[in-house]
Amino acid sequence: MSEYDNLLIQNKAWSKQKHEVDESFFQRLAVQQKPHFLWIGCSDSRVSANEITGTDPGEIFVHRNIANMVVHTDLNLLSVLQYAVEVLMVEHIIVCGHYGCGGVGAALSHQHLGLINKWLRNIKEVYRQYREPIDALGTETERANKLVEYNVIEQCQSLIKTTIVQKAWMERKAPQIHGWVYGLSDGLINELVTIDADPSNIDPIFRYSDEQLRVPH
Ligand code: CO
Repeated sequence: MSEYDNLLIQNKAWSKQKHEVDESFFQRLAVQQKPHFLWIGCSDSRVSANEITGTDPGEIFVHRNIANMVVHTDLNLLSVLQYAVEVLMVEHIIVCGHYGCGGVGAALSHQHLGLINKWLRNIKEVYRQYREPIDALGTETERANKLVEYNVIEQCQSLIKTTIVQKAWMERKAPQIHGWVYGLSDGLINELVTIDADPSNIDPIFRYSDEQLRVPH
């Protein structure tokens, strides 16, 4: 039996078990999803949104990319964000990084990796911003993990710079933004930052006027 075949076999077993515990589980989910959370996480195979939070399908709307980035020109991320905020009306957006992130580690190196350079460049910019406190740390691992934390904080900031979030804050005082870092070695989440839906939390230069936010985009 190949690893690939196993996926399909395990799927059958999982479906059967879910159905046994809750007969209407799939019927309910087939009709609609009503997740309260948007998850922006790393693509790393060890950081699965549902698995580490003990949640089921239907509970978290998920976007993942290398190093859980919120890049303001990324149409994929922005489409997910707009749908989650404006249609699903999520109450919380969680940016979840993780210690030992390969993307962050690569960004701290001088490797030329081809196309990925362009993605990692965004993380290098975060490093440039926090170079002093990061370089003050003794080991490479400590420096990389500190950059993981600053990176999560900066991606939360990137979220609140978007008109999507600012419009929702104006209209319905939500969603709340959370920055987390997951520990691969203990499976625990470190809650770094929470940003309430209050426009005074937005750096003034990035803040759009209420009047402008009412204009359809
Ligand atoms: Co990662």
